[in-house]
Amino acid sequence: MKKIIAVSGKGGIGKSTLAALITRVLSDRADHKLLLVDADPSINLTLMLGLDVNKTLNNLRERFVKSAEAAQEAMFGDKHIRDTIFEECLQDAGTFKLLTMGRPEGPGCFCSVNVLLRYGIESISKEFDVTIIDCEAGPEQINRRVTKNIDDLILVIEPTLRSVQTALYIKDVAESYGVQKSFGCNIILNKADKKDRIEKIRSVLKKEGTEISGIVPMDENIAKYDVIGKSIFDLPGESPSVKSVKEIMKTLYT
Ligand SMILES: Nc1ncnc2c1ncn2[C@@H]1O[C@H](COP(=O)(O)OP(=O)(O)O)[C@@H](O)[C@H]1O
Ligand SMILES: [Mg+2]
Repeated sequence: MKKIIAVSGKGGIGKSTLAALITRVLSDRADHKLLLVDADPSINLTLMLGLDVNKTLNNLRERFVKSAEAAQEAMFGDKHIRDTIFEECLQDAGTFKLLTMGRPEGPGCFCSVNVLLRYGIESISKEFDVTIIDCEAGPEQINRRVTKNIDDLILVIEPTLRSVQTALYIKDVAESYGVQKSFGCNIILNKADKKDRIEKIRSVLKKEGTEISGIVPMDENIAKYDVIGKSIFDLPGESPSVKSVKEIMKTLYT
């Protein structure tokens, strides 16, 4: 299994939670070298995992901006920029490594850090069996082709029409020009609650010629851990969310 998986969708829908759950489930399989990418400038995932928020691609970018010498060295020096990213930005989280994009300070656009992120994903992911990218909300990074090399796009929805509309729009952007090659697309319904709401979403997707690939229920443990600041990685194995993601990963990737 050599794969790059991007997790995308509307804001607040559970992208970071799901990316962490997928990483957790895959990290139980000892034979996988895993890279998790926090591609959201709000660095929520990095915070959620209790890791260093200063070891980021943006900090590296700022070092280049501040020092012409450092930028020259990065471009023309003996040391490959990939190795610099490895040394300065990659964090060891035990069962996986984390690459954080980070948040550019002050006003301005995120173009340059997105370019560095695209390069970082392209070069670093070659060293890993599975790369899981927790994208920024909405279609922006797909549109900018930050994720152009992905094999699979996981679109997270909740039982609301708005989230389905966003997911279908992102799918359309990816299929039209956002991804370079053919890729798999799976829609995961998160925070699933009442049966009739799930059925309603199912019928909306059917009309659009697509379907739900997996369901993650509302899990009060996730909310509880959020309140007390505990990591998703510490959730009990029998938690409904962990069990369902395990099933989904088995169905999608074996
Ligand atoms: N299956 C779930 N059950 C209960 N709460 C959830 C579930 N998935 C996500 N949440 C909660 O929803 C909120 C948003 O999740 P998050 O992963 O940060 O979303 P996103 O990355 O899409 O912005 C968080 O408070 C999180 O704890
Ligand atoms: Mg997030």
